Amino acid sequence: MTTYARIVATGSALPARVVTNADLEKVVDTSDEWIRTRTGIRERHVAAEGETTGDLAFRAGQQALKDAGVKASDLDMVVLGTTTPDIIFPATACLIQNRLGANGCMAFDVNAACSGFMYALGIANNFIRTGQVKRALVMGAETLTRMVDWEDRQTCVLFGDGAGAVVLEATDAPGILATCLHADGGYKDLLYNPVGVSVGFKDEKNHGVRINMKGREVFKIAVKTLDALVGETLTAAGMQETDVDWLIPHQANLRIIEATAKRLGISMERVIVTVDKHANTSSGSVPLALDTAVRSGKVRRGQNLLLEAFGGGLTWASAMIRY
Ligand code: ACO
Repeated sequence: MTTYARIVATGSALPARVVTNADLEKVVDTSDEWIRTRTGIRERHVAAEGETTGDLAFRAGQQALKDAGVKASDLDMVVLGTTTPDIIFPATACLIQNRLGANGCMAFDVNAACSGFMYALGIANNFIRTGQVKRALVMGAETLTRMVDWEDRQTCVLFGDGAGAVVLEATDAPGILATCLHADGGYKDLLYNPVGVSVGFKDEKNHGVRINMKGREVFKIAVKTLDALVGETLTAAGMQETDVDWLIPHQANLRIIEATAKRLGISMERVIVTVDKHANTSSGSVPLALDTAVRSGKVRRGQNLLLEAFGGGLTWASAMIRY
């Protein structure tokens, strides 16, 4: 009998503070009109001073566990997709594992930039399918606004903070049907943060932590790559475009999302869009969108969900899920 990983429950968390496009007009030379028409973003949540990625992920994870009716002590795995960990080590997943009371099980972070949650989901899925793990807490969380250069209008308008989580359980009935994970490190220079432990915390221009992005190039590659990824995911799951009930995409840019929906031949009514409210929360984006869709009653049990993400690395990843 085949063992599948099924999503038992979801959760999410957002910082309380909302920063609108109008607020950003006061910080950099931009306009609400430019941001809305180029990206679809209207506002984003920004973490309070002292509020960390781990705090957001902990809240999302706690909510998912509560809704799943699963005790933290019954978890075999805690995994967090993030590129903005609380501290360098231990992994933020270890800090969360301790706060939840899941001590003893494996816990680690995955850094795949915006694809971090999808990578974490793919890894957890395979641990469950091979029988090594029965229950996993999989999270994606970021405080990306901490590495934003608030003087760079090309990037500071794009990002927000947030977290999402799912509880996975081993079952005999279909759950996650396929996952596809990819990267091409040759594209590193299109989207990266140049500083870190081993190279030092300042770049050659004496800048500290800062997102560098060639937006136009990333946009073009994202559309093309996601187009191919959608086809690959359908084939891996043995499905057609018409089998997809909901597309739950990475929330970076509404125009990229619309291009993927067009490729699938589905209307925007079958696409979960949260980029207007959350902006790009990197690893937090897909699980946040999933939880929003579940809580709104849009996503229902038995439906087929296509999740995908694209980000720095470059990385790209997807999952076809029977919810
Ligand atoms: N306000 C006003 N004008 C701006 C702003 C702004 N905030 N930012 C840029 N502009 C200007 C530019 O200077 C440029 O002016 P010019 O023509 O006089 O030179 C003009 O607007 C057009 O700039 P483009 O960069 O060509 O604008 P584009 O339509 O490509 O939109 C954007 C930019 C939104 C960044 C888009 O390229 C994009 O979404 N790219 C993909 C981002 C993405 O998906 N990243 C992956 C995930 S992120 C991660 O992994 C961490």
